[in-house]
Amino acid sequence: MKKAFSEILVEWQKSSGRHDLPWQGKRDPYAVWVSEIMLQQTQVSTVIPYYQRFIARFPDVDSLARASLDEVLSLWSGLGYYARARNLHKAATIVSSLGKFPDDLDGLSSLPGIGRSTAAAISVFSFSKREAILDGNVKRVLSRVFAMEGYPGEKRIEALFWEKAEALLPLIEIESYTQGLMDLGASLCSRTNPQCPECPMKDCCEAHLSGRIHELPQAKPKKPLPLRETDFLVLKKGGKFYFERRPEKGVWAEMLCFPERKEEEISEDFVELPGFIHVFTHFRLKIGACLIETEKDRAGLWLSMEEALSSSIPNPVRRILEGIRRLSP
Ligand code: ADE
Repeated sequence: MKKAFSEILVEWQKSSGRHDLPWQGKRDPYAVWVSEIMLQQTQVSTVIPYYQRFIARFPDVDSLARASLDEVLSLWSGLGYYARARNLHKAATIVSSLGKFPDDLDGLSSLPGIGRSTAAAISVFSFSKREAILDGNVKRVLSRVFAMEGYPGEKRIEALFWEKAEALLPLIEIESYTQGLMDLGASLCSRTNPQCPECPMKDCCEAHLSGRIHELPQAKPKKPLPLRETDFLVLKKGGKFYFERRPEKGVWAEMLCFPERKEEEISEDFVELPGFIHVFTHFRLKIGACLIETEKDRAGLWLSMEEALSSSIPNPVRRILEGIRRLSP
C-alpha cells in the first residue's frame, strides 16, 4: 500500500526538518504562543533574535501582562505588523487574570490576535492536541500535492482547505507532522523556487507529476496597492533627534516617529535624505525625509541616536536613522 501523506511528512521532518529552533520542545503554551505570533508573516531567521530577547525580558505571561505597552512595542520594533504586539500584550493581561492558559481551541481563539490556525499550532505544540493548522505555507503545500484549484482566501476554497487539512491529520506524532508541514512549506515547497527533486512528496504530488507546480496555488489577480506619500522632518539639536508619539489609532499607533512635514514648515536649511517606499498591507507609502539642524525647542521627545534605536520606532524611522549614522558616524 502507498504510504500516507502524513507518514511521508513525519519521516521527512525527522530526517530533514528543523529541530533546533529555540521555541521547539518547550511545551510551554506561553513560549509557543509568543513564537507563533512572531512567526506570522515573518521568517524564522528574522524571528529568532527577537524571540530570544522577548523571552529573556518577559519569561512568563505575568511579566508580559505587567509590562507597559511601550516596552513591548520597543522589543517588537523592527518586526513590523505591530497589531501583533498590541494583541499579545492585551491577551497576556487576559490570561494572567484567568490564572491559566486556555488549553482548547475555543479558549485560545477567543484571545486577541489568535486565529484558528495559530490556536491549532499552540494546541499541537503545547498540549499534543490533534488539530489542523492552515497558514499560507500549508495552503501552498496542499494545493500542490492535491492539485486544489481556486484562490486561497476565497470563502468556499478556504472551507475545502480546512476539510483537507483535517482529513490528513495523523493519529500519532502530531507535533512532527505539524512541524513537517511548516518546514516543507518554508523550505522545499517555496512559492517561486520549489525544489521538487528533493521533495519527499515528489512521487505523489499532483502538481509536480502534471508539471503544474508554478500554476498552483492559483494567484488571485491583484489590484496594485494605492501609493501615498509623506515627508518626515528629522529635526536635530545638539546631537539629539526629535520624536512625537503617534496617535492611538492608525499606522504605527503609539510608536515614536518623526513629525510629518507640512508644506509651510521648511524654511531652515535642510539636507534631503534618500527616499524609499514602505509597503503596508493595504497601501504603499513613499517616504521622503529632510534632516534639519535646528535651535528651536519643541514639545515632544529629544533622543540620542542610540536611545532612539532602542525605542518603539517603526522600521522606516530605523532605516532613516541608520542612514544618518552611516553619513556621519
Ligand atoms: N511558522 C509558523 N510556526 C512555525 C514554527 N513553529 N516553526 C517554524 N516555522 C513556523
